[in-house]
Amino acid sequence: MQEQSNANLFDAASLGAIELNNRIIMAPMTRSRAIGNLPNDLVSTYYEQRASAGLIITEGVAPSPNGLGYARIPGIFNAAQTAAWSKVAVNIHKAGGKAFVQLMHTGRVSHPANMPEGTVVLAPSAIRSADNIWTDTQGMQPLPVPKAMSLDDIKETIEEFARAAENAIVAGFDGIELHGANGYLLEQFLNPHVNQRDDAYGGSIEARASFVLEAVKAVANRIGAQKVGIRLSPYNQYNDMPAYESTYATYDYLSRELQQLGIAYIHLIDYAARSSEEGLKLIDTIRANFTNTLILNGGYTIERATEALKTGQADLISFGAPFIANPNLPHKLRTGAPLATADTNLFFTAGAEGYVDYPAN
Ligand SMILES: Cc1cc2nc3c(=O)[nH]c(=O)nc-3n(C[C@H](O)[C@H](O)[C@H](O)COP(=O)(O)O)c2cc1C
Repeated sequence: MQEQSNANLFDAASLGAIELNNRIIMAPMTRSRAIGNLPNDLVSTYYEQRASAGLIITEGVAPSPNGLGYARIPGIFNAAQTAAWSKVAVNIHKAGGKAFVQLMHTGRVSHPANMPEGTVVLAPSAIRSADNIWTDTQGMQPLPVPKAMSLDDIKETIEEFARAAENAIVAGFDGIELHGANGYLLEQFLNPHVNQRDDAYGGSIEARASFVLEAVKAVANRIGAQKVGIRLSPYNQYNDMPAYESTYATYDYLSRELQQLGIAYIHLIDYAARSSEEGLKLIDTIRANFTNTLILNGGYTIERATEALKTGQADLISFGAPFIANPNLPHKLRTGAPLATADTNLFFTAGAEGYVDYPAN
């Protein structure tokens, strides 16, 4: 049984070592405005407009050139990118907000046409996703067969996560979130249909989880566990991730290990889990296994979010799409103002339209 709580969405909360003004978190959202993989003034304005969130979690940001699988996504692996992100961090803080960078390595969900010279599409095994992907130069393309990562690739990629996390802190961010959800590289290691390795990184639950846990450890050692969160999406099938029998056991194990590592939070996308009894039980199990902050996400309304805090199911709730068309979402939720709906055709387009032109109130 979870404990009842009097917490309210508009109350302050602590997260790791920082204080948040409220419990309404802006979920990470790729918006594809980072021409040349650099966040520009438009990106800075977009986040500044949304700084009334208790915490902004940025769009997925690549920790390495190999992780730049989509068109116009930003990186944080070199000095120019780190400097560009530092302007964003300063502006969010000036506006009273807090922010974590989401480190997203796209793994096999990557197309060479989107990636710089000399990069490789990497994955745990040479198993392609059956999906197609957008490229600016060739339109929609089938995803390629990735290269199965060698042990050296694994070592280097983990080090890239650690360096990118360090860059995020140098840039002035409050922490980083590892993107372990939605079928990108970290989740590719967890799923036994996508990870068919027969070495220390594949096979048993412990082996499949080891890449994720080593990445968490490396990042936590570099910047401090209190500045690290991870996003997970058990039962996710997006990005051609087939269902598997040991999902419950995998995330039960993973959440117990994450507890040992003492990171600040788990950010759980719970909508796929909520479609089965076993998944519902898993949400409670993760809550019980992991005693630091739990953020829940996936189609939350103010009513569901309030209920989840009251029943102690979560400490914080993140909102994705509602933040796109409602930059000052906390104010709207507090006053009960009607929410505007975002234009989905402009989610991933390059310009200002559908990005920084939604009115604040
Ligand atoms: C335009 C768009 C881009 C997204 N990009 C990311 C991303 O980069 N990283 C991530 O973890 N989730 C991403 N998501 C998923 C959201 O963070 C969130 O999980 C999802 O929208 C469900 O929450 P909601 O119902 O409050 O919108 C994206 C969602 C949208 C709508």
